[in-house]
Amino acid sequence: MPSLQHHPDGRLRHLITLDGLERQEIESLLERAQQLRAVALDGRSALDALRGRTIVNLFFEPSTRTRSSFQLAARRLGAEVLNFDVAHSSSRKGESLLDTFRNLQAMGSDLFVVRVAESGVLDSLAAAANPGVSVVNAGDGRSAHPTQGLLDMLTIRQHKGADFSALTVLLVGDILHSRVARSDLPALRTLGVGQIRVCAPATLLPTDHTLDGCTQIDDFDAALEGVDVVMMLRLQRERMEEGLISSLEDYHRNYGLSPERLRRAKPDAIVTHPGPMNRGVEIDDAVADGPQSVILQQVSNGVAVRMAVMERLLYRAGANYP
Ligand code: CP
Repeated sequence: MPSLQHHPDGRLRHLITLDGLERQEIESLLERAQQLRAVALDGRSALDALRGRTIVNLFFEPSTRTRSSFQLAARRLGAEVLNFDVAHSSSRKGESLLDTFRNLQAMGSDLFVVRVAESGVLDSLAAAANPGVSVVNAGDGRSAHPTQGLLDMLTIRQHKGADFSALTVLLVGDILHSRVARSDLPALRTLGVGQIRVCAPATLLPTDHTLDGCTQIDDFDAALEGVDVVMMLRLQRERMEEGLISSLEDYHRNYGLSPERLRRAKPDAIVTHPGPMNRGVEIDDAVADGPQSVILQQVSNGVAVRMAVMERLLYRAGANYP
């Protein structure tokens, strides 16, 4: 369906959100990422699909996983990468995001990977993009983090298969402020997951349509019963100062994932976390580093997913891409 994210002929042009992406589109990106996994993790077998193309990493917020994996992904597709140095840029003199984007675009950049603190500003960049230029959302405020959503789906698929219809997936933690949850939830719905449970303090649950169709279970032990996938979210510590939780100790007592608690899930349940983790707050070391944790597999999948996304967006009619 044509949208801001799509070319008039229906091909994906920008990736701002997973909300509204068709199931076939998500599945084909996951399948391509799976194919690219070996190349993603071995720089010696880099491709030249994007040779001559320039990717700009435009990160106005800190990042370890997303920024590094976009950089590696771009290089493994043969592209040139510009890691824009916000701290020493004219942004510090007050230049707007849009002007920064337009200036870098004028230098011949092909694709912008953008992380910003404000929700919903990526649409304005997509609208200002020249023909042939794409924008990827690497996290905007609490709005969306679509490549994280895709790498989470790929990780689940690798363990549980492509049919999500019999799966019960539990999201735990600060859903209210989580852009990861706002990408995981639409992706899980579109891929037809059987049941989505959510568990969090009432102060960290959104009251808008974000949780439509989800089953809310207040007690973490009860929420864990029989689940296939436990998706832990980072507790943003500033929420304590805002009075949304009483203390980190209380949070850990009520919502921290310990090995004892995890035994309530299915024996083959997997545990995800987008990182960075607050060890000892939302997740214990023994779970984070334990046999059911797929957290580093998520990170590995991030490179392959970002390759698949950039390859798809920079597809040129007539090019020999899948
Ligand atoms: N998951 C994630 O977005 O991590 P970074 O903030 O380190 O990129």
